[in-house]
Amino acid sequence: MIKRIDVSSLQLGVYIHDLDCPWTEHNFFSNSFLVNSEPLLRRVQQSGIRSLLIDTSKGCDVAEVAAPKPAAAPEPAKTSARKPAHYPAAGEFGRAKKLVTQASGIIKHLMHEVRLGKQAQISGLEPVAESLVQACLRNHHALNGISRLKHKDEYTFMHSVSVAGLLIAFGRDLGMGEDELRQLALGGLLHDIGKARVPDRVLNKPGRLAPGEFEIMRQHVSLGVEMIASIQGLGTIPLEVTQLHHEKIDGSGYPQGLKDAQISQVGQMAAIVDVYDALTSERVYKSAWQPTATLKSMLEWSPKDLSRRLVESFVHCLGIYPVGSMVQLESGLVALVIDQTQDLLRPVLRLAYDARKNCRIPLQDVDISREMSADRVVHIIDPSKFGLNPVQIF
Ligand SMILES: [Fe+2]
Repeated sequence: MIKRIDVSSLQLGVYIHDLDCPWTEHNFFSNSFLVNSEPLLRRVQQSGIRSLLIDTSKGCDVAEVAAPKPAAAPEPAKTSARKPAHYPAAGEFGRAKKLVTQASGIIKHLMHEVRLGKQAQISGLEPVAESLVQACLRNHHALNGISRLKHKDEYTFMHSVSVAGLLIAFGRDLGMGEDELRQLALGGLLHDIGKARVPDRVLNKPGRLAPGEFEIMRQHVSLGVEMIASIQGLGTIPLEVTQLHHEKIDGSGYPQGLKDAQISQVGQMAAIVDVYDALTSERVYKSAWQPTATLKSMLEWSPKDLSRRLVESFVHCLGIYPVGSMVQLESGLVALVIDQTQDLLRPVLRLAYDARKNCRIPLQDVDISREMSADRVVHIIDPSKFGLNPVQIF
């Protein structure tokens, strides 16, 4: 018999008939399998899945009243952002990687179609936007940490996914509702769609742009707005994100040179997120800036370029040591920041290296707000100095 149970009732020996969520949303080899070990049981229970279908003809039964399927509940037209059910980032990295890869592939395909002269179709983006919102509601630090790990050749597509993830997290931190978060996600995914009409020699130039080329590049904003303005049912937020993400508070931005309150809050958020992701990404002509140093510089640049109030909110949203930062502790241990805690100065770390002994150590996750509380982060480090690569530590 197939029946629905709450994931908290899952036991060893039960055969899962269906995890009941898209494959991009979980990190298991299949949607159907026997729960045949304690680690597998724990993984399912910590996966963020709330209820699932079991097959009692292929495995044990559990005494359980059928749990309602979450998606079946009627949703109000506008809901507030869900109270954070904080899922540990370590359990989210696998599916965050899968989601970022899938979303980047869809953006790449969309831009390719537009380059061929076809009309931008957003139907494929809506499920991606929804998955990104749900991933951020589970733990946005996991998604935003993973989306920093870009390949420079895939920058344009991965940047769009990063901007979407960062905008969702930022919007949620500012109290925006889930409907607005979905629109922010679409805005992030689409904000550079106009680059599909920028000539390759300018878009992929392996170096800084000459003034004339920069003029061509700047046109991606109006080209993008033109492409998405006629899409039915898109909402105003994606248009604002696309139109305003290069405007600056002092009027020095483009394309319109708008100032202060002429730029909506969504536009100001988009500008902050766009700059942060561009600076923390490796490009052909520059290395990636460290997240903490980037946030510090952005605070220094505000309020000239960026809203000071919103940059401060953005720091609050990401933490002083954003996920993906590499840090050194007073003890000499070197670690990757993998999650945030209530204490902004004491994140969850993945220990990887001992700088005093000059050797790698077995990877170990610690929450220094609880364990090792006598130790503390003393500074951000450049991982290459120790031969470390965050991609391999995540
Ligand atoms: Fe842009």
